[in-house]
Amino acid sequence: MPQRQMRNAAEQQLLDKARHYLPGGTLGNTRFDEDVAFVVKAGKGSKIYDMSGNEYIDFLLGSGPMILGHAHPSVITAVREYLERGSTYFTLNEPAIALAEVICEAVPCADKIRFSSTGSEATFFALRAARAFTKKDKILKFEGGYHGGHDYALMSSSPSLPKDFPRAVPDSAGIPRVLEDEVLIAPFNDLPATSAIIERYHHEIGGVIVEPFQRIITPRPGFLQGVREVTQRFAIPLIFDEVVTGFRLAWGGAQEYYGVVPDLAAFGKIIGGGYPLSAVAGRADIMEAFNPDLETTGDFIAQTGTLNGNPIAAVAGLATLQQLKTAGTYRQLFDTGRALRQGLSELLKRYDIPGQVVGEDPLFDVVFTDEPVHDYRGVLTQNRELLRRFNAELLARGILKASSKMYVSLAHSAADVEQTLTAVREVFEGMAAT
Ligand SMILES: Cc1ncc(COP(=O)(O)O)c(C=O)c1O
Repeated sequence: MPQRQMRNAAEQQLLDKARHYLPGGTLGNTRFDEDVAFVVKAGKGSKIYDMSGNEYIDFLLGSGPMILGHAHPSVITAVREYLERGSTYFTLNEPAIALAEVICEAVPCADKIRFSSTGSEATFFALRAARAFTKKDKILKFEGGYHGGHDYALMSSSPSLPKDFPRAVPDSAGIPRVLEDEVLIAPFNDLPATSAIIERYHHEIGGVIVEPFQRIITPRPGFLQGVREVTQRFAIPLIFDEVVTGFRLAWGGAQEYYGVVPDLAAFGKIIGGGYPLSAVAGRADIMEAFNPDLETTGDFIAQTGTLNGNPIAAVAGLATLQQLKTAGTYRQLFDTGRALRQGLSELLKRYDIPGQVVGEDPLFDVVFTDEPVHDYRGVLTQNRELLRRFNAELLARGILKASSKMYVSLAHSAADVEQTLTAVREVFEGMAAT
């Protein structure tokens, strides 16, 4: 394991400045303990480097987009070539149209697509489209499901004190109180409870949104099929949030991987190749409401954004998808992830740490509990202190991951897996000793 470099003066100065100008000294919720905090200097392949010269094996991957690894040559070339032609036009361009075609060809539910810039916007507009189509206001989402930062999404995505279903708990200050009545919450993976809520409120529910693979929790066999069946029975649009799963679990996303086709889907992360780009895709009759020809009809969905269909993001996305389409890529991604998952499981067992590896091969994490993890309340049973320690001690050993996720990329090598498992072994050894 390489020796960790002391933080140099330049990096310390940047951290001080960040603390001065940015609330909490961060760009969002991701932050690290003071002794291991760092500023990124560069990323290349499966690694990122801080200002003091430390190298990290990166399982954060920019929160998911960098499935090819950082600074992939084909993405760099595509972006560099396009840059000469300008950065953004706010109007039709060839890369955006080509990307629309690739996504619609790949994704089972996608007849048509509308671009936006962030995953949050994509889920926001998918919900608006569902409400516009049904002319009903309420949304049903699942406890623990994350759909971004807007007011509808931040309901019971991470409640510390969950209420009885279907009552929602806002996850943020500043969300209008009225929305607590507009969002119904169901337990992920509990089909009878979900069906009962939908049956009771179907005349008010305009759309059901779900992460088909919720954070790292896999759907139980039959759960997504059951939700599909009950939403179809009441003609309620089912929205898959594929911001994470799109082009990751399979070329056609979670809907291909789990074999359940929703009415609408939200995409982000991978489709922009590390640049800001997202999309709502879905059934032609629902998507038609985005058509400006309807502007005066009352059925029209207003949706516009300065950078929608940005050509630089589109060429980066196209280059990324082109690589992903190469034969054998998904097998490689799954093999790498499986090797790491199996190693983690064996180490948990060897050191008798209360925990389990939860997820699918391209995305998973250790959840420090022996309770079954089929829903958000299962995750809540974990020992948060062990998780905090796991993350911090891995970071100190040059392994970077999200607080409760490990993303695998095509750039991760067998050597990266081995080095990561060596670090995990050291951390578990320490945990077992205390
Ligand atoms: C499942 C899911 N949906 C939506 C979002 C929001 O995407 P963004 O952060 O691009 O707004 C995220 C972000 O991580 C996500 O994981």
